[in-house]
Amino acid sequence: MPFRWARGMKFSSLPEPVGSTPAAQSGMKDEIFKKPGSGKTPFEFNAQVAAVFDDMVARSVPFYKEVLQMSAELAREFYQPGTEIFDLGCSTGALAGNLLREFGDAAFSYTGIDNSADMIGRATAGFEAAAPRIRFRQGDITETEFTNASVVVSNYTFQFLRPLARQALLRKIFAALKHDGCLVLSEKCLEDSADVSRVFADRYHALKERNGYSKLEIAEKRDALENVLIPFRVNENIEMLREAGFNPVSIFFKAYNFASFLAVKS
Ligand SMILES: C[S@@+](CC[C@H](N)C(=O)[O-])C[C@H]1O[C@@H](n2cnc3c(N)ncnc32)[C@H](O)[C@@H]1O
Repeated sequence: MPFRWARGMKFSSLPEPVGSTPAAQSGMKDEIFKKPGSGKTPFEFNAQVAAVFDDMVARSVPFYKEVLQMSAELAREFYQPGTEIFDLGCSTGALAGNLLREFGDAAFSYTGIDNSADMIGRATAGFEAAAPRIRFRQGDITETEFTNASVVVSNYTFQFLRPLARQALLRKIFAALKHDGCLVLSEKCLEDSADVSRVFADRYHALKERNGYSKLEIAEKRDALENVLIPFRVNENIEMLREAGFNPVSIFFKAYNFASFLAVKS
């Protein structure tokens, strides 16, 4: 059963943020790539993926729970009253749980946007009773408008956008942000050195094995993600953020081929 936020529920009774308990929200285990050949079809955020997404992301992204928590803490730090926190590529809305916990009784407003109807359906159902502080809408983040933002979070989503669309979206985010607002961006990345990238990718696959995925599942998913998830180098991401106007740009978390950036509009 997905977690449901009930009116009157105490913040202390919120479940652990997704990631600490695999499959905490949907309760379903990711077994999508167990069959040989299952990775032949390009990866999509469809109903099948949405149903197991919480387990998939918790077992596939290193330190996912901590990155969500740090994203929520940074959101609290940079949030300006009367403005909006946007979560671009929100999936099932896991960040909203961390924000509710982090803000406690303090006022804030959050909008999660995702173009997958299945993800938005699950997010909306999970946080129904947290409205109006928490809202979700279906839309393409490269096309939809967002204004009055002091915080924008986009975790593990730019990597799925067409490379050419990324810079334009960063400019749009920069324009939408208030002064002293911030963007929190997390991405799967490459290194400048191809050799180090290879070592990091190997270590990452070992981490997935420790999290219960078989070699076959790892290989099939890698096939499905070919030309769907296109990582930029760490330094390319930093250059792109600077080019859009952000300054300072800092890395607040890094583990092998995953990096999280804090970019401020000062
Ligand atoms: C890896 S998931 C993001 C995980 C989520 N941010 C989290 O921390 O749990 C990527 C999400 O981006 C969404 N997405 C991809 N391209 C998009 C686009 N152009 N517009 C809106 N959402 C998009 C997908 O549907 C998917 O839910």
